Amino acid sequence: MSERKIPWIIKYRPKRVDDVIGQDEAKKTIISWLTEWAKGRIPYKKALLLYGPPGVGKTSLVEAIARELNFDILELNASDYRRKSDIRRIVGTAATKKPLLKKGLIILLDEVDGIDPRADEGGLEALVDVIKNTINPIIMTANDPWKEQFRVLRELCELVDFKELTENQIIALLQKICDSEKIYCEREALRWIASRSMGDARAAINDLQAVAEGYGKVTIGLVRAIVRGREKTINIWRTLNEIFYANQAWAAKKAVTQSEEDYESLIRWLNDNIPKKYSDPLDLFRAYDALARATVMLSRAKISGEWGLLSYVFDLMGPGVSLARRSEEILKTRYGFPDWIRLMAQLKPMREEREKLAEHLSYRILASKSTIMNEVIPYMMLIFRNPSDPVIAARLALGYNLSKDMIKYLAGDNTENVIRALEKIKRARPEEVGKETKREPEKREARKEKSSKGLDYFIKS
Ligand SMILES: Nc1ncnc2c1ncn2[C@@H]1O[C@H](COP(=O)(O)OP(=O)(O)OP(=O)(O)O)[C@@H](O)[C@H]1O
Ligand SMILES: [Mg+2]
Repeated sequence: MSERKIPWIIKYRPKRVDDVIGQDEAKKTIISWLTEWAKGRIPYKKALLLYGPPGVGKTSLVEAIARELNFDILELNASDYRRKSDIRRIVGTAATKKPLLKKGLIILLDEVDGIDPRADEGGLEALVDVIKNTINPIIMTANDPWKEQFRVLRELCELVDFKELTENQIIALLQKICDSEKIYCEREALRWIASRSMGDARAAINDLQAVAEGYGKVTIGLVRAIVRGREKTINIWRTLNEIFYANQAWAAKKAVTQSEEDYESLIRWLNDNIPKKYSDPLDLFRAYDALARATVMLSRAKISGEWGLLSYVFDLMGPGVSLARRSEEILKTRYGFPDWIRLMAQLKPMREEREKLAEHLSYRILASKSTIMNEVIPYMMLIFRNPSDPVIAARLALGYNLSKDMIKYLAGDNTENVIRALEKIKRARPEEVGKETKREPEKREARKEKSSKGLDYFIKS
């Protein structure tokens, strides 16, 4: 494998504790707990459960500490130890053997929340047994240990909280990598990557490498074009659930950034669904306050092009709305489509008809579609909807060769009146109608020329 092909998350994996950015509390707890073991004492809790969002240094910190404190490490992934029999055989054996050479042996069980109590029946119970009987330190990691099924395990462990990395911490990490790779990078580009990463250093480093290796430099233009498509998107119903039912701020933020919905529509969805889930007036106030601020930030980001502000938009829409609820109660009302979206769907045929009419008239009146929509159609509507004089409307319809649908759009409830008047004119002056059909245009230019004749007809008659 050539040097450039090595994934940077491996090449730049922290080697020493100092290389791990942030997580100071976690460092202190893990080091002092392991120091006990190194001195031959067994701490009160024989296992640690490290939890927090993905890519924040849980696994790599354990590895770095093990190296510095001279511990051996047996690292297992959920797929290696999920079954009851594996746990007894592999983990159980390791947990009861004294290491020969080093200070101790750390058993690192990554992603314990990958054990599914239904599919891997008895797995969690076997793990609990192993922890009770271990003579070696056991460290587990999880993204979300708060499910009921992990309660017994939680009680047996000392919990160690890992924080989402801040944008500046991630920028510093990315900058360091660019410096050692001697890659040109723009600060703004690193900020963009960091803000999209949701505090996940692994995701940020992967994005950085994708752009840097593909293009030899990291500029804001490249990053904007490339970085967005990386994530798996989730549909709107899951997005809403993950925001309203989030246990942790990062989960709510992730729901926002991974939603397939664009941020503006997501704001509308939240706007209409907050009162379906929250009932306490103060909760409602806090949720709407956060959403209002998100809206302001989003328009600032769009106007100024300062896309770093998006990070605040995510914080306000996700955790802001999610943590607004302080009361226990969450309503069971089902989510609903935002009224705005329903309205737009209902109005769609109308909008299309208006478009068609504007296009049709633009050849005859020689004005732009938008001028016609804003300045001509409203007056025509007044004329067409006047029940006392449908003849003027009928003449206009004849002169501009309007279809039935166009007349209906303009005349609304007065349509029948106008059509009747139109039929009457056609019967009374068939030669004019013939002239009109002969004039049915073939080419745009011909139409334009004839448009004035249409008007002449209307004025003279
Ligand atoms: N705090 C950090 N400081 C420096 N680099 C980090 C940090 N956190 C993550 N990284 C980078 O991200 C990579 C993945 O980190 P790690 O495997 O420790 O994450 P994790 O928290 O265990 O994630 P998961 O929950 O997905 O297992 C590391 O190889 C390293 O390059
Ligand atoms: Mg890990």
